[in-house]
Amino acid sequence: MNFNEELICWYRKHKRDLPWRDNRDAYRIWLSEIILQQTRVEQGMPYFYKFLDAFPRVEAFAAASEDEVLRLWQGLGYYSRGRNMLKTARKVVADFEGIFPDNYDDLLKLVGIGDYTAAAIASFAGGQAKAVVDGNVYRFLSRYFGIATPINSTAGKKEFQAVADELLDAHNPGEHNQAMIEFGALQCKPKNPDCSVCPFMAGCYAYHHNAVDTLPKKVRK
Ligand code: ADE
Repeated sequence: MNFNEELICWYRKHKRDLPWRDNRDAYRIWLSEIILQQTRVEQGMPYFYKFLDAFPRVEAFAAASEDEVLRLWQGLGYYSRGRNMLKTARKVVADFEGIFPDNYDDLLKLVGIGDYTAAAIASFAGGQAKAVVDGNVYRFLSRYFGIATPINSTAGKKEFQAVADELLDAHNPGEHNQAMIEFGALQCKPKNPDCSVCPFMAGCYAYHHNAVDTLPKKVRK
C-alpha cells in the first residue's frame, strides 16, 4: 500500500464517530471547525450540540443577538470567535442567500475563516481539493518527513502547506484531510505516541532518528 492507502485504511479502522463527520453540511462543519480552533474535541462537543440546538440553520444564527451568542459561548474563551461567527452568519444571509458557501474562495470572504477553516469546509462539505494543515497535521508531517522548519514561522507554514498539497488525494480530499487530522490526534500524538503500532513506522524519519520527541520545532516569539 502507498502512503494514502495506508492512511485511509488506518482511518476507517480507528476514526472516532464525531457528529460533524456524518454529513456534508457546510454550516455544521463551520460550527464545528470554529469551536475546535482552540478547543479540544471532548470539550467542544457539547458546545457543538448546544449551538446546533439553538441555531439549527444559519438564518437562526444570523437572527440572534450578540449577547445570546456570547452566553452560549461561555466557557470556551477567545470570545472574538463567537462575535465573528455572528458577523459571518449575517453575511451568509445577506450576501449568499442563506446558503453557507462550500468553496474556498467564497469562504475566505467571511470573518473568522482563514486558510485552515476554508480548506476544511471546502474539502469536507464541497469535496474541493484543498489540503488542511492544523496542529495535528504539522506534527505528523514534521515527524514522518523529518521537516525541522519551525511550524510557526512563515517559511514553515509555506513548506508544510506545500507538502500537504502534494500529498492530498484530490479524488477524496475530505476523507483524506479528516484522516490526516485524526492520525495526528490519535496515533501521532504530541506526547508518548505508541510507535510500535504505527502503520508508518517503516518510513518515519523521526522514528528512525530518535526525533519523535523533538519534532515538530517551534520558534519562540
Ligand atoms: N479538530 C479540528 N477539526 C477537527 C475535525 N474535523 N475532526 C477532529 N478534530 C478536529
